Amino acid sequence: MSTADRHSPARSATPAREPVAVRPGRDAPPEPLLEAEHLVVYFPVKAGLLIDRTVAHVHAVDDVSFQLREGETMGIVGESGCGKTTLVRTLIRLLEPTAGTIRFRGRDISHADRRELRAVRRQMQMVCGQRQRIGVARALAVQPSLILLDEPVSALDVSIQAQVINLLDDLQEGFGLSYVFVAHDLSVVRHVSDRIAVMYLGKLVEISPGEELYLKPIHPYTQALLAAIPIPDPNENRVRPRPVVKGEPPLTEYANGHLAACHHPRNVTLEDIASAQRSKLSPRTAGDELPGISQVAQGKADASGARGAGSDR
Ligand SMILES: Nc1ncnc2c1ncn2[C@@H]1O[C@H](COP(=O)(O)OP(=O)(O)OP(=O)(O)O)[C@@H](O)[C@H]1O
Ligand SMILES: [Mg+2]
Repeated sequence: MSTADRHSPARSATPAREPVAVRPGRDAPPEPLLEAEHLVVYFPVKAGLLIDRTVAHVHAVDDVSFQLREGETMGIVGESGCGKTTLVRTLIRLLEPTAGTIRFRGRDISHADRRELRAVRRQMQMVCGQRQRIGVARALAVQPSLILLDEPVSALDVSIQAQVINLLDDLQEGFGLSYVFVAHDLSVVRHVSDRIAVMYLGKLVEISPGEELYLKPIHPYTQALLAAIPIPDPNENRVRPRPVVKGEPPLTEYANGHLAACHHPRNVTLEDIASAQRSKLSPRTAGDELPGISQVAQGKADASGARGAGSDR
């Protein structure tokens, strides 16, 4: 983050930082600090008067794969309910994944026990809620290498936002920290993120180096998110084009001819969901080796009922 950005995190013309450099052919690519591979988190939807029955699953995180490098800041954006909080809570294993793998410094922590998790959480901290500066100070007390920040500045006015973002930036420089930075909108993450992941209905639909996403958004949902960022000039704001999300993946067929773009498939049976034509988008990160959508993971999750999903630790 440059000095020029420090007082206007919400909107400035200064480009975001360069991504962490890897010299192909000379350096072996550094092992990612944190890695999610085909991560799936389903929450059971219960119904029934006397006995709770699982009638469906909320696909809160749906086959998410990405890698976070040492010293990198990854922004995660997307509208309310798209699964951002569920994703970060699962990454730090406050939630158990339904399927998929989480690796921290190369070690599989997807099903780590309490003792292992204690060690991991000394290096990986999560900060959420209103009092962000206090939260960050507390998180730093254990000298972590990664901090997951869930909406760190969303509730703050612009000048306080700038202070918190400056603080995070200084800490990153001083301690070589990595961040996962969750926000509703793209304007906030622009100046802090090396890369930005756009989440939509539980899936990552686009991952891009920070500034590239603003210059060349590819997915229609990213284009719609960008169009939602207000422009200070009201005249320009009024006349600019606002793309609406069309095509895939907004609509999912839950039953014959019954389409819905929602996260809460109420009144829909498990069979309906099993037959749903879900989006086959496979997010790719520049430089990352990511396999495609795992049918196996999805099959396991559907068959598992409430197994593990949503169990807070
Ligand atoms: N414990 C739970 N049980 C059932 N459903 C849940 C649970 N937690 C989250 N969900 C559902 O999972 C989906 C993703 O929720 P999540 O809180 O991760 O979204 P979010 O992107 O963080 O939203 P926001 O921007 O509002 O914070 C939502 O549909 C939400 O209602
Ligand atoms: Mg959230």
